[in-house]
Amino acid sequence: MALRFLTAGESHGVALVGIIEGMPAGLALTAEYLQAQAARRKLGFGRGGRQKIETDEVRILSGVRRGFTLGSPIALLIENRDFANWRDVMRVEPARGEARRRVDVPRPGHADLGGALKYRHQDMRDVLERASARETAMRVALGSAARRLLEGLGVALGSRVAALGPVADDSDYGDAKTLNARADRSPVRSLRRSREMAAFIDGARGAGDTVGGVIEVVAGGMPTGLGSYAQWDRRIEGPIASAFMSLNGVKGVEIGLGFGAAGRPGSKAHDEYAPAPAGRVRFLSNRSGGIDGGITTGQDLVVRAAMKPLATLMRPLRSVDLRTGKSASAHVERSDVCALPSAAVIGEALLALVLASAVLDKFGGDSMDELLPRVRQWRKTGTSI
Ligand SMILES: Cc1cc2nc3c(=O)[nH]c(=O)nc-3n(C[C@H](O)[C@H](O)[C@H](O)COP(=O)(O)O)c2cc1C
Repeated sequence: MALRFLTAGESHGVALVGIIEGMPAGLALTAEYLQAQAARRKLGFGRGGRQKIETDEVRILSGVRRGFTLGSPIALLIENRDFANWRDVMRVEPARGEARRRVDVPRPGHADLGGALKYRHQDMRDVLERASARETAMRVALGSAARRLLEGLGVALGSRVAALGPVADDSDYGDAKTLNARADRSPVRSLRRSREMAAFIDGARGAGDTVGGVIEVVAGGMPTGLGSYAQWDRRIEGPIASAFMSLNGVKGVEIGLGFGAAGRPGSKAHDEYAPAPAGRVRFLSNRSGGIDGGITTGQDLVVRAAMKPLATLMRPLRSVDLRTGKSASAHVERSDVCALPSAAVIGEALLALVLASAVLDKFGGDSMDELLPRVRQWRKTGTSI
C-alpha cells in the first residue's frame, strides 16, 4: 500500500501521536481542517463525560510547510487534556508502590483479560489504556489528511447510523456528497429515525446497559479501476474490510448487499448494465456496493459495519477478581452508552485511508501536480460511469 500510518498513545497518557507517510507533496493541508474532522468524531448522543473534557486539538508537527504537504512524513499530535487528572497514575517516570485506579477485575468483552495474560500485566489499566477507542481520535486526524487528498480528486465521503439496537433506518442514503450535511444534523447520525434511536439510548442508559448497531459509510465520485482481480491481495475489499474490522467493537463488515445477497436469487443480487452515451456503460442498480471482481466500478462505494454493544456496563457483568480468584462484578470505568455516531465518522476516516492509498497505488505521483492530471485524464477516457 502506498500510504502507511502508525498511532501511539494511551487513553489518559500525555498525548496521542500519529505519523502518516506516503502523502504526495503540494496538497493544501491545515491543522484547522484536521481539527474540524476530529471534532465530528466527538459528536453524538450517548457519549460519556470524556468528550466534554477533550478538545482534540490537532497539531501538525512535520510534513507540512506554509500550508502545503512536503511529501515527507506528516506527524500529528493530540494532547490528552484529561492527563492533568491522571498525571500520577499515568506517569512515565519510575514510581514506588502501586498506582491508584488499579484494575483487578477484567471487563468481559474488552481486551482486559486477554491483554493481562498476553503481556503478563498485573494491573489491567496497562491494557485498557491502549485498547481504549481514544486512539481513534488520532486515526480520524490521519484519515482526514487522506480525505483531503480524495476531496481534491472529487471523491466525497459520508456516513450515517443505519441501525441502533433494534431500530433500523432502511431509508436510502441519497447523494454521498450531501450525506454528511444531513447526518451531521442528527444527534444519532440517523436520516429518518433519530427520535426512536435517541429514546432507545435513554432506555439503555436507565437500565445501566449499552447499545450497538450498524454504521454505513459511503464514498461518492469514485474513480473506476481501484484494486484488481489479478492477485488475492490486490482485491480492494480486503483492505477495506481489514480497516473496518480494526475499529474497536466492530464484529462484521459488508459491502453492498453483503450478507443480504446470500439469501437472494441471482436475478436479484447483481447489477445489470445498459448502454450510455459515448460508448459507456450504465449500471442499473448498486447492489454490489461499488466493487465487482475486486475493482471499483465507479459507483458509490457502500460499506456497512456491525458494532457490538459497548462492553463497559454501569450494571457490570460477572467477572473474576484476578488478585483473589473470587467472583466479582466487572470493573466500571467511565464509559459511553452508545458510540455509533462516532464510529460512523471514524469509518469515514478509515475508508479515506484505504481509498487514498489505492488511488496512489494506481495513479502514482510524488506531487499533486503529477497525480491530478493523471486522475483527470483517467476520468475522461470513458472509463468513468
Ligand atoms: C468511538 C468509540 C468509543 C467507544 N467507547 C467505549 C466506551 O466508552 N466504553 C466501552 O466499553 N467501549 C467503548 N468502545 C468499544 C470498545 O473500544 C470495544 O468494545 C473494545 O475495544 C472491545 O472490542 P473489540 O473486541 O472489538 O476490541 C468504543 C468504541 C468506539 C469506536
